Amino acid sequence: MAEDSHLPHAHLHDQAQTDEFHVRGKFASRMGFVLAAAGSAVGLGNVWKFPYMCGQNGGAIFILIYLFCIVFICLPAMIAEFTIGRHSQTDQVTAYSVIAPGKPWGLNGLMGLTSGFLILTFYCPVAGWMLASGVKMATGQYDTEGMDAAQMGAYFQEQGLNLITAANAWEPVFWMIVIMAITAGVIFMGIESGIERACKYLMPLLFILMIILIGFSLTRPGMSDGLTFLFKPDVTKLFNENGSFKFDIVLAGMGQAFFSLSLAMGAMMTYASYVDKKEHLGKLALQITFIDTMVALMAGVMIFPAVFAMGADPAAGPGLVLFTLPAVFLQMPLGHFGGTLFFLLLTVAAITSTISLMEPIVTWLIDGLNIKRLPATIMVLLGIIAFGIPVCLSATSGGLISLNIAGGETPMPLLDAVDYMAEFLMMPLGAFVICMFIAIGGWKRRTVLQEAAGEGNTPGKLLVLWYYAAITIAPIGTLLVLGHSTGVLRVIAPSLYGQ
Ligand code: TRP
Repeated sequence: MAEDSHLPHAHLHDQAQTDEFHVRGKFASRMGFVLAAAGSAVGLGNVWKFPYMCGQNGGAIFILIYLFCIVFICLPAMIAEFTIGRHSQTDQVTAYSVIAPGKPWGLNGLMGLTSGFLILTFYCPVAGWMLASGVKMATGQYDTEGMDAAQMGAYFQEQGLNLITAANAWEPVFWMIVIMAITAGVIFMGIESGIERACKYLMPLLFILMIILIGFSLTRPGMSDGLTFLFKPDVTKLFNENGSFKFDIVLAGMGQAFFSLSLAMGAMMTYASYVDKKEHLGKLALQITFIDTMVALMAGVMIFPAVFAMGADPAAGPGLVLFTLPAVFLQMPLGHFGGTLFFLLLTVAAITSTISLMEPIVTWLIDGLNIKRLPATIMVLLGIIAFGIPVCLSATSGGLISLNIAGGETPMPLLDAVDYMAEFLMMPLGAFVICMFIAIGGWKRRTVLQEAAGEGNTPGKLLVLWYYAAITIAPIGTLLVLGHSTGVLRVIAPSLYGQ
């Protein structure tokens, strides 16, 4: 790849190198864009985070809230990001000033880069756990001969905890660095065709493997308990004993929806800046959202029957996948093989996401601060390693550092705290600003709608609905989340909290 190439990793015509007038590259096909954006969206958020959040927040009722947020808040926010990106045709910091020159909107782009950095510090350790599990499976380090389901549950709980706690400090740190180094390597060498192939062949393979696993899961003893937990909403779980509403569940659902769709950090905005002017952005957003949501729901169906069959705790937290999935595989025929393949593919899915988290930061250093690609990549790599190590060693409540930032009774492990900051403070704020930019960024409603519809298309009724959702429901929803997570809402509307 050329030193100055800032193209996202898929199907691009790199015209910039041949054209005298430095025409921007763009996705060669609609499929290329959908794959790249879906590659960014589908990752640990779907397979690791969604199941454990679902387990901690009451199952089906959480899923309902999650789906509501996807449709009414995140989809509008995604189309908004796409629209800003394609209209401005530039990076996420500059994009705002192309449309609204001289205004400070671009700060939102910088905040997006910061939250991307924070996410990397906890995302890479988790990706490391997945890679380590794959390697352990492959090398036969899990010995479950003669164990029944419950014994396996206990065994993998222990194995999983070993992997994620500071007890063997070098181990999680080592795997985290492996993930970070691979990401940086890909970004530096720009093996675009490799990433492209990963999205095109390996992701569908992961999808197929998940379907096989679901098939197996549904024949297990925990099947009906698992499905009930996932799909039969229990509305009472939304309320505390004193009748007050549990905002935390709504917060969790919305945060998860934003995170899973890679929103509010400029990643999707950047991708969209390379989309052909004729594409209908609403349709593209719909496809990506559909794929991402399917993968999350599939992960739930894959995991929860096993959780119940093994008597594991659905609210086990970030270790849930590690405590249950290996056991499911080892009960299946060809389990070692299937398990290895699954964890390695999941690692690939995670890396397609870490790349799209890291690339914008590197690009910004290159463009904004005039640093060359190699030193820029190394700087970001060293930065995420330095911040990642304490985060990695604080994955459990017994870990190195705990912070009490959410006003809860117990301080959060640093890993959760960083996640909280990115997901519940910076993401809602970022999304709020993006939606407000659609409303009052200084461009006309007609321009926004035409951009979203694409050249040569007339904006339909659904798009008009989108516009109003993006400037009403979506910003209100994100503000509520922000009000809750900063504690402001509790002060201005104590009655909501039953006080
Ligand atoms: N959506 C990704 C996942 O589900 C994680 C993610 C969050 C992300 N924000 C992002 C990826 C921004 C790329 C860019 O795993």
